[in-house]
This record gives sequence, structure tokens and C-alpha cells, in this order.
Amino acid sequence: MAILKIARLGHPVLLARAARVEDPTAPEIARLVSDMAETMLDASGLGLAAPQVHVPLRIFVFRQGSEDAPTVAALINPELVPLDDETETGWEGCLSIPGLRGAVPRARRIGFRALDLQGRELEGEADGLTARVFQHETDHLDGIVYPMRMPDLSRLGFVEELTRFGATSR
Ligand code: NI
Repeated sequence: MAILKIARLGHPVLLARAARVEDPTAPEIARLVSDMAETMLDASGLGLAAPQVHVPLRIFVFRQGSEDAPTVAALINPELVPLDDETETGWEGCLSIPGLRGAVPRARRIGFRALDLQGRELEGEADGLTARVFQHETDHLDGIVYPMRMPDLSRLGFVEELTRFGATSR
């Protein structure tokens, strides 16, 4: 396991469309996911997409379980669909944009399909924070970072100042 270097905003890898994973069961994919999990937990992130560690493949990891005992799961080649027209605006941060938070509208409920590390098809629904994390991370696979989803850039700021002046930080 290794902690990987995280690409920061301005690096072109964050604006590129990532390629599909041809063989989710390949040992190098397992190694990458394991390193991404360690990197995300080390940085206290909720999710991390492969382009954020300079690997242009359609993979992201996300945090599950309790805060004291988090586990990490991975989605490979994820596809999302909103389940209705309802959106919700919430605060997001990104390990590639350290120190900042922005208010981003996202679909409240989504359906998802993906593969796991065994190459099995996963299918499910998510809402709330999980749906937000999945949309944020899947955006990374399409070269989209959260400020590009913000209709109101006056709600982008440093977490320190947002907290100081009473905006919610998450
Ligand atoms: Ni991010």
C-alpha cells in the first residue's frame, strides 16, 4: 500500500475524460484501488477518483461505515442516472482543491451501475450525501470539477472564512 500524490486544480489530468477499465480483475487495478483507499483515508476524504492520482481510468473509491471504523468501496466504470427531477444544493470540497468549499446543486436520488474488483455487476440506488459523492466522483471521470457545476460562484470560498462568517462548511 502507498499514499499517492494528489493532482491539484490546474493539472490537465483533472480536465480529461478517463478511459473505461477493460479488466477490473487485473492485479494492477486491485493495487491502484488499495492505494487510492489509503490515500483517501489519509487525506480524510469522502471519495477519490483515479484521475486525482494521475491515473486516467474510470474508477473511484468512497468511504462507507461509521466515522470511527470507515471502510472503503470502489466503483469501476460507473454509470449514474437521476431518478427524478429533484435537486439539492449542498457544500462540497475536493482533495484536488484544498481549503475551498462550494455550494453545488446535485440530483437528490440517483440510480447507479458499475463493476466491482471481481468484475461483477453492481446496481443500486443512492440518495443524499452518498448520491452527492457519487456524482462528484463520476464528474471527475469526465474531467469535471465541482466549481464547473456551480451556478453561483459567490458561494465558493475558503472553508476558514465560510465558517467564520456563518456559512455551513459541509
Ligand atoms: Ni473531488
